[in-house]
Amino acid sequence: MLIKNAQVVLKNTVKVTDLRIEAGKIQRIKKDLIPKKGETVLNCEGFTVFPGLVDMHVHLREPGFERKEDIASGCRAAVKGGFTQICCMPNTEPVADNKVVVSYIKHRGEEVGLCKVRPIGAITKGQKGEDLAPIGGMKAAGAVAISEDGKSVANSKLMANAMQYASDFGIKCLCHCEDATLSDGGVVNEGFYSTLTGLKGILRAAEDVMIARDICLAENLSLPVHICHVSTKSGVQLIREAKARGVQVTAETCPHYFALNDSVIASYDTNTKVNPPLRAEEDRLAVIEGLRDGTLDAIVTDHAPHHEDDKNVEYNLAAFGISGLETSFALAYTLLVRSGVLGLNALAKKMSENPCKILSIEGGAIEEGAPADLTIADLNEEWKVDKNKFVSKGKNTPFDGWKLFGKIKYTLVDGTIKYEEQK
Ligand code: DOR
Ligand code: ZN
Ligand code: ZN
Repeated sequence: MLIKNAQVVLKNTVKVTDLRIEAGKIQRIKKDLIPKKGETVLNCEGFTVFPGLVDMHVHLREPGFERKEDIASGCRAAVKGGFTQICCMPNTEPVADNKVVVSYIKHRGEEVGLCKVRPIGAITKGQKGEDLAPIGGMKAAGAVAISEDGKSVANSKLMANAMQYASDFGIKCLCHCEDATLSDGGVVNEGFYSTLTGLKGILRAAEDVMIARDICLAENLSLPVHICHVSTKSGVQLIREAKARGVQVTAETCPHYFALNDSVIASYDTNTKVNPPLRAEEDRLAVIEGLRDGTLDAIVTDHAPHHEDDKNVEYNLAAFGISGLETSFALAYTLLVRSGVLGLNALAKKMSENPCKILSIEGGAIEEGAPADLTIADLNEEWKVDKNKFVSKGKNTPFDGWKLFGKIKYTLVDGTIKYEEQK
């Protein structure tokens, strides 16, 4: 296949060029390539080609919660959102805490055959926080990391052991940072809007003390650690300072933390209920600054699809989470690139290169010899988010009706078109 006349986001530059794909790989990057006999030509004039987007934090819900999402519907949403690789969290039923479940998810992902599905194993058996899960076995079955996502491992000694074992097997712990004794049943950020609405607040400290603990462990043990979905100004600052000291810490945030503040909870719309909660405007601005200055390495969706029955209830009872795969790229492009916070190369780093580096997985760059995992978008097209058009089973988005720039036109995985926009 030949991709002609596209604006291509390369490692450190952006240029208009052609790309030849052969045997699933990028074979040549050069202007004015002449189509060979029988070669498919994709005219991408006016479009921009990114290295295939990688979402290192999604929930696919299978096995166990197929009512909310399954691996097939999640993968369809992923390629529609421009993702060529997704890493899925282990809070399924049964929990992905052993090689059998990990291997099931990996193989089901291959069978679906859309994007690459990389499972993440649990840190403890059943995510109960008591005994370590068999990390070596899960890694051998295809786990690219371990995480207790949905909660933290409260026992610090157990967490230290997990970091040590993970590192012995060449993978990292991805830490959902929440001190449950502090969050204590809260549902929104503690502050003006929790008081206004009468909804129970969650202190920023619930997140920050665990970020601080996990940084302390990484620093003391000289091990790497990755912090999930950073939402607080103080959390960004803890990570910034740790990085400056040379701690091997990396971190991610999600579009909802740079797109929204907690004023939106005044509507009592349960689509704004997410964990960690949407924070105040100063936190939102600090998250943006963290992305700009490199403190926050990656943008992930924390795609958390839920069934209508889990959301169409009173705020206190609703499930936490936002269905994010189909809006992430356009939110990041519109709110970060068009506003001048990040350039296109920096966006590609946060949504493709850095996740690959953090997890030591292939991909993340458009270069000769690399897998032809490519995301092709029209950056000038404005479109309106319509949750009823989501292919994810989870229609739970606070962005319904938003007008955004950046429409995914094609998603290619190993040189094959896995998504093409239908007009
Ligand atoms: O909002 C969230 N939803 N945060 C989490 O930590 C878990 C996730 C889920 O699994 O629904
Ligand atoms: Zn989480
Ligand atoms: Zn999550």
